[in-house]
Amino acid sequence: MNTVDYLRISLIDRCNFRCTYCMPEGAEFDYIRSKEMLTNDELIQLLREVFIPLGFHKFRLTGGEPLLRKGLVDLVRAISSLPGTEDLAITTNAYLLEDMARPLYEAGLRRINISLDSLDRNVFREITGRDHWQKVWQGILAAHEVGFDPLKLNVVVIPGVNDREVLDLAALSIDRAWHVRFIEFMPIGNTELFAHKGWVDSATLRAKISDRFGLLESNCRGNGPADVFQIPDAKGTLGFISQMSECFCDRCNRVRLSADGWLRPCLLNESGQIDLKTSLRSGQDDVALRQQVRELLNLKAEINFKERDRGIKTSDQTYTRTMSQIGG
Ligand code: GTP
Ligand code: 5AD
Ligand code: SF4
Repeated sequence: MNTVDYLRISLIDRCNFRCTYCMPEGAEFDYIRSKEMLTNDELIQLLREVFIPLGFHKFRLTGGEPLLRKGLVDLVRAISSLPGTEDLAITTNAYLLEDMARPLYEAGLRRINISLDSLDRNVFREITGRDHWQKVWQGILAAHEVGFDPLKLNVVVIPGVNDREVLDLAALSIDRAWHVRFIEFMPIGNTELFAHKGWVDSATLRAKISDRFGLLESNCRGNGPADVFQIPDAKGTLGFISQMSECFCDRCNRVRLSADGWLRPCLLNESGQIDLKTSLRSGQDDVALRQQVRELLNLKAEINFKERDRGIKTSDQTYTRTMSQIGG
C-alpha cells in the first residue's frame, strides 16, 4: 500500500457559494455548531503531537469554503512553521482570494487549488448560484501574481451545463503555468442533478482535447488522484480526476479530518471514522491519540472504497456527509 502522509483538513462546513453539484440552493444543512469545531489550538496540537509524529507532512486546508474560517492567516502561519510541515495547500472557491492571497502566501501557504467551472458569467452563476465570476477571476489573477505554484483550477464537468467549455478551459493551461483539472461529477451532494444529467468520463474529454490541441502524457503525475497530460508547448498541464470511471484507491495517500474532528480514512466509504475531538477533549493523552490514528491507518487499505470490489458503483452509494462537510 501507498504511504499515507497527506491530511486534508476541513476548516469549516459553511460556504458562501451554492454549487449545484455540492450544496445546491435550498438544500438544508445541519451545520456544525461553533463549539463543536476544532479550535486552532486543538488542530495544531493534533498536527504536532499526532499526525506529524506518524509521518504526515502534507496538509491541505479545505471546507466548505476555508477562506471563511476566522483566524485563517494565523492558522496557516502556525501550521507552516511546524517542523515537519513540508507542504501546505488550500482548496478554495476564490471569492475572498483577491485580498487574502498575499497574506496567505506571506504566512507560508504555497499551493492553491481553485474551483472554476466556467468562463461564462451566466453559466458560472447557474452552477455556483452566485453572480461572482469576475470576483473569482480577480482572485485567481491575484494568486498568480503573488506566486502560488502550482496553481490548479478544478472543473467539475456536468453534461449540458459546462461540457461545451472544456476546450476553452483546457486552453487556460497554455499561456500560464496553470494546471486545469477536469473532475468527473460524483453523486455526492446533489444526487438528483446527477440522476438527471449524468457525468462525462475523462477518456471522452481527453479525446476531444486531443483532437483540438494534441495531448501528451506528462511526467509530473505526482501522488494525487489526477492523470496528468499536457498540450504540446503549454506552460501548464491538464489533469483528469476519474473517480467514476477508474479506481485509484490503490495509490491513495490521504485521510481526511472534518471541522468537528472526525478522521475519515476514505472519501467514498464512511466506515472506520474516529472522533478525535471527543478523545482530545476527554483528556486522552497524545500517545493514546496516536494509537487510535495508527489503528485507523492500519485498516485504511481494507476500507478504501472496497464497495467497488464488491461491484457496488459510486453512483449506488448514499452518503451522510456531503463534499462540503468532508472537504472533497
Ligand atoms: P493535490 O493532488 O494535492 O493537488 O490535491 P487534490 O487534487 O487531491 O485536491 P483537490 O482538493 O483539488 O481535489 C480535487 C477533487 O479530487 C476532489 O474534490 C475530489 O473530487 C477528488 N479527490 C481528491 N482526493 C480524492 C480521493 O482520495 N478519492 C476520490 N475518489 N476523489 C478524490
Ligand atoms: N463531484 C465531483 N467533485 C465535487 N466537488 C464537490 N462536489 C463534487 C461532486 N459532486 C469538488 C469540486 C471542488 C472541490 C472542493 O470539491 O471540484 O473543487
Ligand atoms: Fe462551496 Fe466548494 Fe462546495 Fe462549491 S464545491 S459549494 S465552493 S464547498
